Amino acid sequence: MMRAEMTRISVVGLGTVGQWLLRALDSGAERIARRHGVAFTVVGVANARDGFIYDGDGLDIPAILGLSSSGRSIADQPGPRRWPSAIEGLRASEADVLVEVTGSPVDGEPGFAHMREAIGRGMAVVTSNKWPVALHGVELAELARSGGVAFRAESTVMSGTPVLAPLVEGLAGTRPIAVRGILNATSNFILSAMADGRSYEDALAEAEAAGLAERGVEADIDGSDAMAKTMILAGLVFGRQLHPKQVLRRGIDAVTRSQIDEARSAGGSIRHVATLEFSEPDGAGEVDARVEPMLLTNTDPLAAISGTANAVICRTEPVGDVTIIGPGAGLELAGQGVLSDLIAVARSRDTGPRVFPENVEAVKRTIKAYNRRDVEALLDELDPEVEWRPSLPVLLGGDETVYRGHDGARQLLRDLDEVLAERRLDLPEIRDEGDRIVAKGSLRIRGKSSGALTESPFTWVAEFKNGRAVRIQTYLD
Ligand SMILES: NC(=O)c1ccc[n+]([C@@H]2O[C@H](COP(=O)([O-])OP(=O)(O)OC[C@H]3O[C@@H](n4cnc5c(N)ncnc54)[C@H](OP(=O)(O)O)[C@@H]3O)[C@@H](O)[C@H]2O)c1
Repeated sequence: MMRAEMTRISVVGLGTVGQWLLRALDSGAERIARRHGVAFTVVGVANARDGFIYDGDGLDIPAILGLSSSGRSIADQPGPRRWPSAIEGLRASEADVLVEVTGSPVDGEPGFAHMREAIGRGMAVVTSNKWPVALHGVELAELARSGGVAFRAESTVMSGTPVLAPLVEGLAGTRPIAVRGILNATSNFILSAMADGRSYEDALAEAEAAGLAERGVEADIDGSDAMAKTMILAGLVFGRQLHPKQVLRRGIDAVTRSQIDEARSAGGSIRHVATLEFSEPDGAGEVDARVEPMLLTNTDPLAAISGTANAVICRTEPVGDVTIIGPGAGLELAGQGVLSDLIAVARSRDTGPRVFPENVEAVKRTIKAYNRRDVEALLDELDPEVEWRPSLPVLLGGDETVYRGHDGARQLLRDLDEVLAERRLDLPEIRDEGDRIVAKGSLRIRGKSSGALTESPFTWVAEFKNGRAVRIQTYLD
């Protein structure tokens, strides 16, 4: 199994999304480690009512879920430290990632403050909270970039269906020109159900019963949810921050039964369509941003998107139109979007070289043992399977002499002693490259038979596994 590096997370918001995520992290930990080589420990959680609780060694997740579902305070357990609010807890505690899944009123607060605080403290941010990203997506992405941390908001647009990663990462290097889409599952479900003959009221009740609508279904109906998502696409895909005033918004509450019937008999359908277009590539120039019910002919790919499905068609140069279709809402899906972002963050943290200062110390000890001709001390620093390629081929009588294992290392020192009256390694410059150490300096040798003394620039490269050198290659420059 791959070594799973632990990523510490604080989850702010313990509603549908936060609780789903905690359950998924708890029950899926082994599979996530096996499939993705990452592991999480939840060190902080917060809700509005009970504030922020924290334990740097990891919180008891089943206990927190039990308290939450029984309506008790998450602080009703001995051990964790507690602050009255999430922002105070974030300021005073440490984690690698903030998962911000609080509710999202249209001023974007306190989500924006939470995210800014976390990024400022060197934490990555993963969020499903739409309005902070809609209003400040460009700023948050830039703050994260300059702070060297990740900022991901996949589930803000199509819940568990990935849109931002394919458009931002998959199409990196292309020039985005325009986006059209259906971005709200509840309104699409209602329009589709009405086209099938149901009344607006019945369709709305059905959407609510299916758990499609989040708290506050008005945002789905009046178009403000789709508007926030359009602003998120503008900010994170095009790099252009829009103000709500720049987006024309009409909801489905204005759509009448007779308009739906007329559309149907004309061979088309009414869909709530988000349009985002810029007069120049990369979000530059004039912007045309709107969310509104539109009559689509049946040749329009968006006309075929029905029920809870959502879709985004992104036009880019030079690829052309790229279409993403998938469920836009559902009880588990926002949590799933957050989970895939979290795994991506943990994996990217994992790919950079890990620094192991102890390897530097091992190299120093190896050099010391080498100079003292202390074979046993030298072996302490070497893996039993070590492969050593020294740079004295002429002296040692071959071009590519490789010494293997501890016996090989002993042999190397014996071979050197046979031809050299004196040897001294001096490698003052030691660079830590994670699992690889590069040391530079000089090697001074005096030949036994010639008595000649030479000093040459020398480089020593050692690769490490589990704290011991597995491969050493040296170069006389
Ligand atoms: N549910 C979905 O299908 C879905 C899909 C995509 C995106 N989202 C977005 O994801 C976010 C979470 O959704 P949800 O459905 O889980 O919402 P929710 O059920 O309403 O839960 C929101 C949680 O945030 C907490 N909270 C609110 N203000 C807080 C504060 N100042 N400090 C700490 N915690 C605070 C609430 O605490 P209390 O419990 O104490 O009230 C609650 O636990 C929202 O922004 C939503 O728009 C949801």
